[in-house]
Amino acid sequence: MDLFEYQARDLFAKHGVPVLAGEVIDTPEAAREVTERLGGRAVVKAQVKTGGRGKAGGVKLASDPADAVEKAGAILGMDIKGHTVHRVMLAQTADIADEYYVSFLLDRTNRTFLAMASVEGGMDIEEVAATKPEALARIPVDAVDGVSAEKAREIVAAARFPAEVAEQVADVLVKLWGVFVNEDALLVEVNPLVKTGDGRIIALDGKVSLDGNAEFRQPDHAALEDRDAANPLEAAAKERGLNYVKLDDGNVGIIGNGAGLVMSTLDVVAYAGEKHGGAKPANFLDIGGGASAEVMANGLEIILGDPDVKSVFVNVFGGITACDAVANGIVQALELLREKGEDVNKPLVVRLDGNNAELGRKILTDANHPLVEQVDTMDGAADRAAELAAK
Ligand SMILES: Nc1ncnc2c1ncn2[C@@H]1O[C@H](COP(=O)(O)OP(=O)(O)OP(=O)(O)O)[C@@H](O)[C@H]1O
Ligand SMILES: [Mg+2]
Repeated sequence: MDLFEYQARDLFAKHGVPVLAGEVIDTPEAAREVTERLGGRAVVKAQVKTGGRGKAGGVKLASDPADAVEKAGAILGMDIKGHTVHRVMLAQTADIADEYYVSFLLDRTNRTFLAMASVEGGMDIEEVAATKPEALARIPVDAVDGVSAEKAREIVAAARFPAEVAEQVADVLVKLWGVFVNEDALLVEVNPLVKTGDGRIIALDGKVSLDGNAEFRQPDHAALEDRDAANPLEAAAKERGLNYVKLDDGNVGIIGNGAGLVMSTLDVVAYAGEKHGGAKPANFLDIGGGASAEVMANGLEIILGDPDVKSVFVNVFGGITACDAVANGIVQALELLREKGEDVNKPLVVRLDGNNAELGRKILTDANHPLVEQVDTMDGAADRAAELAAK
């Protein structure tokens, strides 16, 4: 989960990283009072989860409270790379003498963590990284050892920070590593980390991405979720513990068991759809190995509740959970939904293969549900589901 800048700022403050005072607002008029509280001047900053806000005009200096109202009005509602600005942060202004860059991230390729640092921070760090890679120090960080004071000094030396800020920057790096580890982050980035005119080091902008797999031990993180932006179907699926991802522009609902099978199902449906008016998969849904009737009912309910879905393809390869259990699951799921008063009116194409496939098919044949159709092969079933969706 990516955080907004103001949320990153809060986490920084919690772990002792020096930041400036700031407040978030969602109406221009609110800027007046906040700017007065901040001392009469403020930087108005668009809160969107994308980079390059400054260059897009989403970061503006306001010289007095009235100016802040005007700047907030100009930035609120702005579109930055497809993200609408719903909130702005007003932050205290810093007297900037120098802009640096520091970050910690998970380096998947090298199976380790990585620290990056540069004394050429600011809005053009991407260009620095591309054209002057030697100006961006990259230091691997061992997961067990982490960033001690000594390690932090190694990073500071590699990036050639000036001597007068070396100790302060090292101290900030240790604290940022504290954010990274204690909040289970995948990325902690500060750009710019500034030196002020009076020689202090402050994090002026923060980008943090949290590891969703650590949610179970981070009860506070649920509150950081951007509910306005969350897809309601995905939110409902998450509540039921389903592995569901909504896809754009699709009309064939997909249910399968096993992430690999579901991924290839998306491919065959997209391929089959080329012959049927561009039918496409509407979602990813992996109901996993032990697909009980209840899990199947939950999955079907989410998918049938998607107005984009015109047909459903249930693609199951029986393994430890055999096809007869899955077939019974489908029959019971449709029954459960009927009892709940759900209006089940979209055709289901079911392909069962693997363990006990024949028995599973017989169960579905005997149930003789008017909306359920069976096709023996994956390609054939994908073709039929796409055809039904295109109708
Ligand atoms: N509180 C502040 N006081 C003074 N100047 C600021 C302040 N915050 C930001 N700036 C200036 O604005 C520039 C851009 O701000 P910031 O880094 O927050 O946005 P950005 O880098 O454009 O956005 P992103 O990091 O999302 O790409 C900074 O490099 C800094 O020069
Ligand atoms: Mg920045």
